[in-house]
Amino acid sequence: METHRGRKFLPDRRYTCLTLIVISICGIEALEMNTGKIPFLEAVNGSDVLLPCTYASCIGITNLYFKWEFNDNGTMVKIMDSTIPTDFTEPSNVGVYRDRVEFVGSGKTNNVSIIIWNVTFEDAGEYTCFGKNPKEKGRNHSAIFTLYVVDELRVVDNTLTVIIVSCVGGGIALLMIFMLLKNFTLFVLAKIEEKNKECLVSSGIDNTENGLSGSKSTPKATPKKA
Ligand SMILES: *[C@@H]1O[C@H](CO)[C@@H](O)[C@H](O)[C@H]1NC(C)=O
Ligand SMILES: *[C@@H]1O[C@H](CO)[C@@H](O)[C@H](O)[C@H]1NC(C)=O
Ligand SMILES: *[C@@H]1O[C@H](CO)[C@@H](O)[C@H](O)[C@H]1NC(C)=O
Ligand SMILES: *[C@@H]1O[C@H](CO)[C@@H](O)[C@H](O)[C@H]1NC(C)=O
Ligand SMILES: *[C@@H]1O[C@H](CO)[C@@H](O)[C@H](O)[C@H]1NC(C)=O
Repeated sequence: METHRGRKFLPDRRYTCLTLIVISICGIEALEMNTGKIPFLEAVNGSDVLLPCTYASCIGITNLYFKWEFNDNGTMVKIMDSTIPTDFTEPSNVGVYRDRVEFVGSGKTNNVSIIIWNVTFEDAGEYTCFGKNPKEKGRNHSAIFTLYVVDELRVVDNTLTVIIVSCVGGGIALLMIFMLLKNFTLFVLAKIEEKNKECLVSSGIDNTENGLSGSKSTPKATPKKA
């Protein structure tokens, strides 16, 4: 009887534990909208961009309402919306309210991404991926994705390379100039020294000659003779 009791008791404990774990993982927010680890993109005008968004829910979904909104200078403009009846079913009543926008998500992969074709500079700005799961009594969840539209892609690495190259190049140039100057200075100094030496040598010769002639003074020799 006692072993039987113990066996019966164990699954209950496990269940409580599992419930606690699920609650702690899920936290208060059951639904989560996610626009990716890097929620912004720089796109060249005229290109097509994917605005990514996925949802995750611990408690599952029922008639999940989602929409994309564009922050047009403070006013939120609805771009598209739809409802997903239950987990892993495709959205129904997909509404698209803007040109060049297409829904490319799938309920099977919790994917509610959209594509904007041929982006213009007016498309740049903040896009909100919004979700509401009626299972949660109307709690709103959203994530923001920012789109930058540029004329030409600037490559950050390239600028850095250019900076490094110009720095190194500049350094080498400076070094060369320094070496040239040094060599030139040495050359000039050598020339001056040569000239000085010549002067010294010639004057030295003169001096010795003078000295010699000076030492060869006749008055000293005269006493010997005398
Ligand atoms: C992007 O914009 C620039 C400047 O307005 C324009 O010259 C260029 O043709 C545009 N490119 C595309 C693909 O629309
Ligand atoms: C945005 O709103 C501000 C204030 O209402 C206005 O001055 C500005 O011109 C607007 N910009 C655009 C691009 O509509
Ligand atoms: C969502 O679907 C689109 C279109 O199939 C795909 O390009 C994108 O990678 C998907 N995103 C995620 C996060 O699965
Ligand atoms: C995108 O622009 C190109 C060239 O202007 C055009 O041929 C194409 O139909 C456009 N696509 C969409 C979806 O607007
Ligand atoms: C949730 O979103 C809806 C629709 O956008 C809005 O009407 C409502 O005020 C929001 N509720 C909260 C609590 O933010």
